[in-house]
Amino acid sequence: MTPSTGGGGAARTARHYIGGRFTDSHDGATFTVTNPSNRQPAGIAARGRDKDVAAAVAAATTAFEAGDWARAPASQRRSALFRVADAIEKRAADLAAIQALEMGEPIGEAAEAMVARSAWNFRFFAEEQELAANQSYNLDDRLITYTLTHPAGVFGLITPWNGPVMLSTWKIAPCIAYGNSAVHKPSELAPLSIAMLAEILDGAGVPPGVYNAVHGFGPEAGAALVEHPGIAGVSFTGSPRAAQDISRRTAGTSKRVSLELGGKSATIIFDDAPLDEAVREAAAAIFSNTGQSCVAGSRILVQQSIYHEFLARFEACAERWRVGDPFDPDTVIGPVVSEAQYERVKAYIELAGTEGTILFGGVAPRDDGLFIDPTAIIDIDPGARVCQEEIFGPVAVILPFADAADALAIANDSSYGLAGYIWTGSQSTAHSVALQLEAGMIWINSGFARDLRQPFGGVKGSGEGREGANHSRAFFSETRFVSFPVGRFDEAGL
Ligand code: NAI
Ligand code: MG
Repeated sequence: MTPSTGGGGAARTARHYIGGRFTDSHDGATFTVTNPSNRQPAGIAARGRDKDVAAAVAAATTAFEAGDWARAPASQRRSALFRVADAIEKRAADLAAIQALEMGEPIGEAAEAMVARSAWNFRFFAEEQELAANQSYNLDDRLITYTLTHPAGVFGLITPWNGPVMLSTWKIAPCIAYGNSAVHKPSELAPLSIAMLAEILDGAGVPPGVYNAVHGFGPEAGAALVEHPGIAGVSFTGSPRAAQDISRRTAGTSKRVSLELGGKSATIIFDDAPLDEAVREAAAAIFSNTGQSCVAGSRILVQQSIYHEFLARFEACAERWRVGDPFDPDTVIGPVVSEAQYERVKAYIELAGTEGTILFGGVAPRDDGLFIDPTAIIDIDPGARVCQEEIFGPVAVILPFADAADALAIANDSSYGLAGYIWTGSQSTAHSVALQLEAGMIWINSGFARDLRQPFGGVKGSGEGREGANHSRAFFSETRFVSFPVGRFDEAGL
């Protein structure tokens, strides 16, 4: 394999990045990366297995124990992470292009936002780790206690393909900001963009071994990483199926595990909502990133009195979500990521056609790429599989409801609980629904918008743990407490 330097263009080769060096697999194994727009090879990646993972964990452990990063002044880590953020911005066009090539995200506005958020992840945690406070308490003037936080060691980071750079940096940045070392197993469907990210971290002077990437498949490289005794924990984003396997493999160990597993989130639109905005954002919530988003608003609940008006407006709005070549700046929906994902989404749409009515969209056979038109399904029972299972494609189910209690009953009838979007002109409706909606993140009269200080994650089957500010800090740190009496211990009455 030739080195994976992009040279200003798109890197087409993803080698492992271990101990500050780009390397092939120990056995030279590789796999082909496919361009979903034309089903043609887009590049090649090293296929890591247990020996490659072991080499990466060893490099990460050496870096951690040497302490040049873990015990470096926080200001030093901040400077390095700011250089990473600057470099991400400098290579924004390359990063957008490589993602368009390997996973089909259109270049353009959404890609620019993705790069901006990736850079922001590094800047945010660079500052957070420097400014974060420990806690101190005074117990009745008798006892003073305080906490101390330390880096916890080497973490396994396992990430998906639906926003490879953004979702990876959301884990890499806090992991290394708090002084840990990382072994990253990126998605086998989008390794090229992560190879570019590794070059960026390398070039920005993050010391060797602090960040490592091992490419390969979930059951091979992923499982080997999860099982490695040298890691302190696993931060995972992906499918419930993989999460169950990770939980099994870590059961009975002291490894900490954070799981972000997607959802079947509801957009709830009341008849007093600002309808133009609600329609536009309901469409964005399900069609952005071709519906391949953990926070997708895949169930649209509409109050009965405006249901038919909503359907007409939603259909008109969906026409603006143009499917096409991700390299065309006017394209807003690219292909779905893979043949498997295409077959999966297609099967759900076929099922929906028998269980309900397809209002618009569907899968028109074409021989180029894995394109699926924006699709809406109506006349369907809220308990139907397409209303319950995460489809992860541009497919919305639209369900009418009578009143707030009815909307909540439908919305909460889900094994998931990641996000929720509420549209109403009434403050009291908004907040009382927010209070009762079983979801980890709720947006009122708003599309998806982040505040990195707030917890990111879900309730019920949507996962375990939260990411963001002090939540990521708690996960990626060891916390201890120290206590001492104000006077003599034997006189303190404790
Ligand atoms: P996946 O869960 O198989 O892949 C995500 C990551 O986990 C990849 O890096 C993969 O290599 C790794 N992985 C898979 N099995 C593993 C194992 N046993 N041990 C360790 N690592 C493992 O997801 P997939 O198959 O690409 O997508 C299937 C469905 O999962 C999607 O249709 C969607 O419903 C859901 N999903 C949710 C995501 C989210 O953002 N929460 C992201 C990706 C998928
Ligand atoms: Mg691909």
